[in-house]
Amino acid sequence: MATIAHKRKPLSSKWKHEMLPDLEGNIEALHVEQSLQLEGEVNVIGAKNAVLVTIASLILTEGKSILTNVPASADIVQMLALLHELGAEIFFDENNNRLEIDTTFIRNNRVRPEIMKKMRASVLVMGPLLARFGKAEIALPGGCSIGARPIDFHIKNFMKMGVSVNVENEFLRAYVNQLKPARIVLEYPSVGATENILMAAVLTQDVTTIINAALEPEVIELIEVLKKMGALIKILPPATLEIRGVNALRPIEYEIMPDRLEAGALLLAAAITGGTVSVPNARYDHLDVFLAKLQEMGHVVEVGYENKGITLIATEQPQAVSFRTAPYPGFPTDLQAPLMAVLSLAEGRSTVHETVFENRFLHIRELQKMGAQIIVEGDRAHITGVDELYGTQVIASDIRASCALVLAGLAAKGKTRITGIHHWKRGYEALEKKLQKLGAQIFLEASN
Ligand code: EPZ
Repeated sequence: MATIAHKRKPLSSKWKHEMLPDLEGNIEALHVEQSLQLEGEVNVIGAKNAVLVTIASLILTEGKSILTNVPASADIVQMLALLHELGAEIFFDENNNRLEIDTTFIRNNRVRPEIMKKMRASVLVMGPLLARFGKAEIALPGGCSIGARPIDFHIKNFMKMGVSVNVENEFLRAYVNQLKPARIVLEYPSVGATENILMAAVLTQDVTTIINAALEPEVIELIEVLKKMGALIKILPPATLEIRGVNALRPIEYEIMPDRLEAGALLLAAAITGGTVSVPNARYDHLDVFLAKLQEMGHVVEVGYENKGITLIATEQPQAVSFRTAPYPGFPTDLQAPLMAVLSLAEGRSTVHETVFENRFLHIRELQKMGAQIIVEGDRAHITGVDELYGTQVIASDIRASCALVLAGLAAKGKTRITGIHHWKRGYEALEKKLQKLGAQIFLEASN
């Protein structure tokens, strides 16, 4: 992958043109062949869903911050393109996963439709822009394959903080003279809404509380980032954030936490191929419920010292298990599709209940093409394990579906060709290379 900037100067717009197609444009498909008993040890990179919001939070500061352990995946590059467009200076040394961002010269507060459509998480710049400039103009983020993805929780609670909002032809314009402290009660512990409101509140005078906040590890990481910048944030039981506004926040140096979702993918690769894989830098305490389900299947899960390091030793007779997705600490929706692929080959019948997104079963059709026995009843899927899956042509519909199809391809007889692979590149930094290191027969097919 091209390094975005070698020289110490603001990135030119040429950078965006050069960079993005590298991650998205010329990748046609992933080829996966049956690869049994993956073995070995790999580390995970920084968590995509923590990095995206941390990059957005830097808008709250004026100066140069340094983030390390930053994955060079397409979503991250997209968020950097957005910050560059707002006026930030960016130096991303992808080979060392080291990112420098100088936010001193940010003046623009408008997010174009092309940017928003490519990555919905762009909405996370809204809170920081309102806090720093009192203004944000964002193209309405459309839905995506897993759901309508509304942002009503973000908007109505910004309005509680005194923000005026109007929507005209696809654009949402928000402005406020001075944000007001508020008592915010989230009707659902939305990750994005919690993060956006939190980033507005840290520079809002007096105390703002967010009740029924999301407490995913990525949200806790954002709280740590903001506290390092000088924010005053308390986490009160059961899920209340109390934020006392400060006048200014300072740039930071920060190492991003390991990606629990990449760790889950690697452990599931061991489970589905009957192998043994260790992820030395994975955090057990980020994956409790997920790992408990793997143990219920009969797999052995070993944890390293102080909750760091996870090893999965696969059982030869994996048993069916049922689960429902839920906000943290419940089973993470982002590991629903990958685990379903593994359950397709488990002994017995599993039921998967997806409660977070309304349309997160699009991978099922593709798994059925490979021989999986799955029946969908509303927000529940019933899986009856089969002895074999068969490689074929399949299409990825979202990031986590692409992971599920790769896992299925590792176990399936023959070859699997997966298209829609921009999703894979969006969510993971060269995860195929890590799987190759474990013995997987997997490679990217570039367009000629
Ligand atoms: C974040 O999305 C993650 N993305 C998602 O990961 C993850 O699946 C999700 O949290 C749940 O854990 C990032 O962090 C960039 P939500 P987010 O707001 O913030 C509804 C991946 O694959 N809702 O907690 O969008 C919403 O439609 C991605 O890495 C409203 O109705 O999730 C959904 O049904 C996929 N109104 C539910 O709440 C709102 O204003 C949970 O959404 C906001 C959300």
